[in-house]
Amino acid sequence: MAPLKGLILSGGKGTRLRPITHTSAKQLVPVANRPVLFYGIEAMADAGIEEIGIIIAPETGPEIQEVAGDGSRFGVKITYITQDQPAGLAHAVLTAEPFLGESSFVMYLGDNLLQGGIRELVTAFQANDPDALILLTPVDDPENFGVAELGEDGGVVRLAEKPKEPKTNLALVGVYMFTAGIHDAARAIEPSPRGELEITDAIQHLVDTGKRVEPHVVRGWWKDTGRLADMLEANRLILDVIETRVDGELTESQVDGRVIVEAGATLLRATVRGPAVIGAGTHLEDCYVGPYSAIGENCVVQDAEVEHSILLAGAEVRGLDGRMESSLLGRDVKITRSKRQPRAYRFMVGDTSEIEIL
Ligand code: TTP
Repeated sequence: MAPLKGLILSGGKGTRLRPITHTSAKQLVPVANRPVLFYGIEAMADAGIEEIGIIIAPETGPEIQEVAGDGSRFGVKITYITQDQPAGLAHAVLTAEPFLGESSFVMYLGDNLLQGGIRELVTAFQANDPDALILLTPVDDPENFGVAELGEDGGVVRLAEKPKEPKTNLALVGVYMFTAGIHDAARAIEPSPRGELEITDAIQHLVDTGKRVEPHVVRGWWKDTGRLADMLEANRLILDVIETRVDGELTESQVDGRVIVEAGATLLRATVRGPAVIGAGTHLEDCYVGPYSAIGENCVVQDAEVEHSILLAGAEVRGLDGRMESSLLGRDVKITRSKRQPRAYRFMVGDTSEIEIL
């Protein structure tokens, strides 16, 4: 049997994470200071997959290529595949067909995080030999997801996209396993009302033509980081399991709980209460960084309190009276407060930014 390949989808529009995605790929937004895409690549490497294709969009692809490289640092070989337009997940599969050939493959959405990796399901796929294997997780609001209905034999009989009256609470997780038969299924379907070739329709086509689609209910958590709230939650979940390591320089400063302070970070009269991570080259001064914060590289937090937030590289927060929380600051964003009168707010903010003053 040809070795299993990996396909990571890192194209798309990323409209829900604007304005961050105006200038950068959403798969590169950091979770605990590492691009979310890295977790998918590592899950594949951990499951023994050696060849990974990454679907990229023309606009954000070069940046992804630069950050993830040829894959050698993960112990895999990465091939980049440009999808000329974000025409749907099944369209992405067809775009990757020359790379995938006759191989079975794991497909992983590049903005998703799956606790516990994919080893277990690769084993299930290889042992049971179905035509496709889909991952499911119970959710409280199935009407917001792709939902699976299972038959009496436990196989998948129907997939419904965001159904008004869901028949089960089993939502589709953004990780799938396919045999090469998925290409014909993707060719057989028509674009959905939103104009995309949907992977759920391709899987439904497999079911309708008598192919065996096996469900696998995941035990750990799964997160789609498509929106700000999800991003912050993914950050929380990953920070909860980091191991404390303080390599930076602390002066009259205190670090409590699970905290990583990277080498080259400097803390002066700062308190960091974990779980939190402080990137290399970052300077914290007369400040408090509270739980579930991920402060990227070369940031500054001074005379301010920051909690439950993600700061991308080069962001600066200075002189805030109140505490900044549940925020995502893009690269080189600066938030300052001066003591000058008259007091006023002054902004220079990019398209679709959101500012909430509480
Ligand atoms: P989505 O989050 O469903 O789509 P999107 O990236 O366009 O985002 P939004 O809804 O906020 O506009 O996509 C899931 C993953 O698949 C994501 O990593 C992007 C990727 N993708 C592709 O690679 N090609 C595609 O054609 C689509 C639709 C998504």
